[in-house]
Formats: sequence, C-alpha cells, structure tokens
Amino acid sequence: MAVRRIVYCGDPTLRRKARRLRNIDEDVIQLLDDLRDTMRHASGLGLAAAQIGVPVAAVTVMRDPESERVLELINPRIIESEGEQEGTEACLSLPTLRGMVIRPARVVVAAVDPSGNPTTLEGEGLMARCLSHELDHLEGRLFIDLVEPDSLVWLRPDESEESGYRTEPTTVEEALEAFDRLRARRGS
Ligand code: NI
Repeated sequence: MAVRRIVYCGDPTLRRKARRLRNIDEDVIQLLDDLRDTMRHASGLGLAAAQIGVPVAAVTVMRDPESERVLELINPRIIESEGEQEGTEACLSLPTLRGMVIRPARVVVAAVDPSGNPTTLEGEGLMARCLSHELDHLEGRLFIDLVEPDSLVWLRPDESEESGYRTEPTTVEEALEAFDRLRARRGS
C-alpha cells in the first residue's frame, strides 16, 4: 500500500494534458495501485494520476462506494454523452471547496483495463459526474473552471451545525489565491 501526496490546485501538473500510455508495464500497475490506495485513504470518489503528480492518462473511480470496488481506467475517453445534470462537486486537489457544476446526465467511456483489454462502461447520475470530472483532469481542467460562480463555498468545520460544518461563500479568484497560500505553506 502506498498512499501518495495529493497535489493542490496551482500545481502545474494539474494543468498539463495527460500523456496517453502505450504500454502497461509494472510502473503503470504500481501507479494504479497507488491511485487506488490514495483515493481510498482520502475517501475520494475518483482520482487522476496528475493529482499525485504523474501527468499520464490513468484514473481510478469508485464503482460502488459500499462494496469498495474500484474502476481502473487507462487512456479513458468519453465516446458518448447525453443530457445534462446539475450537482455539487468537490475535488481532492481543491480541499474543502464545493460548487455546482453542470455535467452530462449519461456518458459512455472507452478505456483500456489493467490487463490491456479495451473496455467500455456506461455511467449515469453520480457515476457520469465522477467520470466527467476525472476525465477533465486528463485535459488539465478542474471543476473550478466550470463551476457556477455564485455556488462556490468553503466548508468550514463548525460543531454547532448538525452536519459538522458551515458553508462560507467565496469567489474563484479568492479560492485560487487560498490554494496558492496552502501550497506555499506546504512547500510545493
Ligand atoms: Ni478532481
């Protein structure tokens, strides 16, 4: 098990277009293992390789949070997309930020699995959202680029709230500056 450090918004790796993988060698399998472990450790629904500092086209997505089954996708791309849904989104590279993003209601993704076999999968609802979000990472795109600006909030810990947190409105500019400060404090 290797839990890797997740890079934060402002890190140039997150803005690079991911390199497609030609061979699935031991390094790629190790990378997928690390992505899976890091995603689970952070309780995320998905993670792209760029988020652990590796700009290649590999992502993991929780297939079913209850069974902990994880999809491992190499060179994924959306081949069909249909409809629209609005919903709240977050990202492990933009910790404690939330906002509304419009995504397709349904997507079909073509990818290669870790055994090297072509695969397609269909996702609706939350799965369509997760797949769209993770595949955006491969293009260097983050949810903050697509967010409905008025919906952007920080989640602040607050014991007096039933949920354990309160929301605090912010702007795209303020949030980007906050992540720059966070990265400076962490030294990355
Ligand atoms: Ni993300």
